[in-house]
Amino acid sequence: MLNTPFTLPCGVVIQNRLVKAAMTERLSGSNCKPNARLVRLYEQWADTNVGLLITGNVMVDRYHLESAGNVVVDNEEALPEMKAWAGAGKKHGNHIWVQICHSGRQTSRFVNLKPKSASGVQLKKLGLFSKPKAMTEKDILDVINGFVKAAVIAKKKWFYRSANSCCSWISDKSIFESINES
Ligand SMILES: Cc1cc2nc3c(=O)[nH]c(=O)nc-3n(C[C@H](O)[C@H](O)[C@H](O)COP(=O)(O)O)c2cc1C
Repeated sequence: MLNTPFTLPCGVVIQNRLVKAAMTERLSGSNCKPNARLVRLYEQWADTNVGLLITGNVMVDRYHLESAGNVVVDNEEALPEMKAWAGAGKKHGNHIWVQICHSGRQTSRFVNLKPKSASGVQLKKLGLFSKPKAMTEKDILDVINGFVKAAVIAKKKWFYRSANSCCSWISDKSIFESINES
């Protein structure tokens, strides 16, 4: 059963039922581009013949990283590196989906001491996160545009589906009552 193909409602066929969940890699360098270390890692995962690889956080805004080492896709400069990464991940006909994220209030304080988020409610966890500033309507539109841009770039460069933010902290956290101030 695990080794039989699976058709998603959108028509995409995954060659088996094994999926690697999103796990933040934190392997990028200071330029925030995919690099040889990521390519090697995804090559090895592809070699396991897993049907679907979901990448770790790929950020739409370099001032809102979940951690140093995140890949950022906010412009087209990294197209060749994206191609190499996607190619490694799908080398056996499996899928690789890129997880596009904005870390909102879960932005590492070592990256940004004044992050923006859906509300001004701070995430109090081991002192890792600063109190965020609640986004304005323009800030929210900027984030939406960032997601669209990253998705278009990822799709261009051979990721099977530009993966639609499985864990966009900005969106899923904003619906929780405890942090929704409106
Ligand atoms: C080291 C590590 C890194 C993770 N990074 C991400 C991530 O980048 N994005 C995400 O949505 N979830 C991330 N997760 C959560 C996993 O994708 C997964 O949802 C979680 O481990 C629960 O999986 P399970 O239900 O199979 O136990 C991470 C988990 C671990 C252990």
